[in-house]
Amino acid sequence: MTYQLFLFDSLSSTNDLLKGLACGGAPEGTVVIAREQTAGRGRFGRRWLSPKGGAWFSLLLRPPIPAEQAGCIAILIAVSLARALREGWGVPVGVKWPNDLYVPHPHPLSVNGEGWPQAGVRYQKLGGILIELSTNAAQIDWLVAGIGINVNNELPAEARVPPTSLARELGHPVPLEEFLDRALAAIAHDYERFLSEGFEFVRQRWQELSVLPPRVLVRTSSGEIAAEVLGLSQSGKLVVRTGESVRELATEEVTLCPR
Ligand code: BTN
Repeated sequence: MTYQLFLFDSLSSTNDLLKGLACGGAPEGTVVIAREQTAGRGRFGRRWLSPKGGAWFSLLLRPPIPAEQAGCIAILIAVSLARALREGWGVPVGVKWPNDLYVPHPHPLSVNGEGWPQAGVRYQKLGGILIELSTNAAQIDWLVAGIGINVNNELPAEARVPPTSLARELGHPVPLEEFLDRALAAIAHDYERFLSEGFEFVRQRWQELSVLPPRVLVRTSSGEIAAEVLGLSQSGKLVVRTGESVRELATEEVTLCPR
């Protein structure tokens, strides 16, 4: 994939600008980066504070897959970013389904899985991904992946999940250009592999990196239910058992608190 980068000092939201470009026919690989966003958006219409110092960018993809499999791309990007952060800076980043990046505290003994903690640790959110897409006859026409990673920025004083940043994890700032280079290279590599061989290698990496405990709370439109996590489906959905039934979750909110 060839990238075409557009860098702005300040934008309302990189996703909004890139969605406009996507509708106008911009090619796959178009990337919009903003040093700050004045109206950054998170999932579920939440606000995403985006002051200078963070990595706020959106990537346009046109994967030739059914819209029903869009979850695969969300997971692929989360897993690629976790790998870039682990290999680039040795931070033990995990993924929280569908596409949040979490860092455990205290850090495990190894960033490569050994000693990977599941219970008795606190997780802090390093970043998240907001996927927006348009379809044509059930196929994806364009998909905008909005990526927000706390790199050197100040963190919000109040947040639903305690936040952290790469600089805070390392104890020193990180050149933003280097972060963006590594992140985009990791995504391009994994996306090309996905197009040629499918989702299985991403699913396997997700299993190594997932921070979900065996039991989670699922927040649906009809309230919260306790569920047992069974795994990830071939289309990127979370497979859970609730009572007697097995369900595949696409967009529901899953919280870490076991019950
Ligand atoms: C989440 O965790 O809820 C997703 C956060 C996504 C934030 C990024 S920052 C770049 C892009 N532009 C936006 O307005 N949102 C995404």
